Amino acid sequence: MLRLASVTPPAWTDAALGGVSELLLDHAHCELKAASTALGLAFRCASIPGLPEPLSRLAREELEHFELVLAALRERGIAFGRAAATPYAARLHGAIRGAEPSRLVDTLLCCALIEARSCERMQLLATRLPDPSLRDLYEGLLASEARHHATYVDLALEVAPRTEVLRRLDELAAHEASVLADSPRGPRLHE
Ligand SMILES: [Fe+2]
Ligand SMILES: [Fe+2]
Repeated sequence: MLRLASVTPPAWTDAALGGVSELLLDHAHCELKAASTALGLAFRCASIPGLPEPLSRLAREELEHFELVLAALRERGIAFGRAAATPYAARLHGAIRGAEPSRLVDTLLCCALIEARSCERMQLLATRLPDPSLRDLYEGLLASEARHHATYVDLALEVAPRTEVLRRLDELAAHEASVLADSPRGPRLHE
């Protein structure tokens, strides 16, 4: 269960299908950023029992995803290079509370929501992309992203009581939906 507060509109899928090269480039960056975020959290949570190992595993899987998307770029003759950042993550993180342990709980839940949104949209790509090898790529990735969503929620549950975590997840999911509703619409995973 992905616990998102909105459903991606058809206009997003249309924009994504209209710019597959840009979408793949953005997606490669998203996977690399996901690995970097998980690794950063492993450092930050080094002294919290039960957190470093799943975060390390998650970082490793995101790097594997990054390499799969890099291969898809290479097969299509698309150079991997810099891509303009989207405001999504920064705006999502704007709701993170300042004092610990709330700050860590919110950070983990924002990661959970990013994973959930990726998974939801990969499902759309896996059914709608005309290129069968790209459909297979997204079909293969989306189960991992659903698992990552659940992992981040589980990690937040290591830090705070269940009722607080689930209440905060609902609040942040509503915030995530409003961030996306106000975002520009381009061929990006989180626009
Ligand atoms: Fe991933
Ligand atoms: Fe992920």
